[in-house]
Amino acid sequence: MRKKIVAGNWKMNKTHSESIALINELKDAISSDLSNTEVMVAPTSVNLFPSVSAADGTSIEVIAQNMHEADNGAFTGEISGSMLKSIGVNTVILGHSERRAIYGETDELLAQKVDAALNNHIRIIFCVGETLEVRKQDQHFIEVANQIRKSLFHLSAADWENIVIAYEPVWAIGTGETASPDQAQEMHDFIRKIINKKYTSEISDNLSILYGGSVKPNNAKEIFAKEDVDGGLIGGASLKAEDFLAIINSI
Ligand code: PGA
Repeated sequence: MRKKIVAGNWKMNKTHSESIALINELKDAISSDLSNTEVMVAPTSVNLFPSVSAADGTSIEVIAQNMHEADNGAFTGEISGSMLKSIGVNTVILGHSERRAIYGETDELLAQKVDAALNNHIRIIFCVGETLEVRKQDQHFIEVANQIRKSLFHLSAADWENIVIAYEPVWAIGTGETASPDQAQEMHDFIRKIINKKYTSEISDNLSILYGGSVKPNNAKEIFAKEDVDGGLIGGASLKAEDFLAIINSI
C-alpha cells in the first residue's frame, strides 16, 4: 500500500530559533498514531542540522529543499547529498518550480541530481507541473510527461522505491488559486498511467503522488480525498503550526 505524505516546504523562511520553535510545536501536537502517514518539514539548509536534532525521536522527518549533483568540489555555496546524509537527512525535494524558474534548473540537470541523491541513498520528492500558459494551450499533460520522462525514465525499477512525485501546477503555487480536486485527480491518474506503461503496475500503484499549490486547511480534505492524491507538498500553510496540523489531520 502506498504511503500518505504531508510535507512542509518552508522555502527561505524561518531563522534558527523559529525553525526549532515550529518543530517543537508540531511534535507536541502530532499524535504518534499517524498510521500510514509520514510528516516531513523542509527547513533552509542552514537550519537542517539543528532541526534534525529537534525532531529526533519524533514522527517528523526533516528533509532538504535542494542539493547539488556533485558529491564535493569547487561549487561555492552548494550542498551535496553526502553532506545531507552525514547530518541525518534522508529525503530531498528536487525540481521545485522555483528552482526551475529562478535558478534555471533543467530536466537534464535534474536527472543528474536525481542520480546523485539515489547514489547517496536519499529519497526524492520530485516536483513536476505546468505554467498557466501551458495549461491554457492544453499542453499540460505533454509538459508533465516530458518532465518525468527526461528526469526519471532512466531509473531502474528498484530506484522507484525511493521516488515520490509532487504535482505542483505553477499557477497554483503561492497564488491562493488551487487546482480543483478533479484537476489534481486527473493529472495524478495520468502520471500513474505513464509510469505503469513504462514500468509495472506494481511500481505505479506503490508510488506516492502528492499535490502541491495553495493547499490550505479549508481545501486539503477535498483534495486529499481523491483516489490518486496521496498527500501534499505544502508551502505557505506549513509555516504556521495550527494550519499545518489542520492539513495533516485532513488526510
Ligand atoms: P504553496 O507552495 O502551498 O505556498 O502554494 C507549495 C510549494 O511551493 O511547494
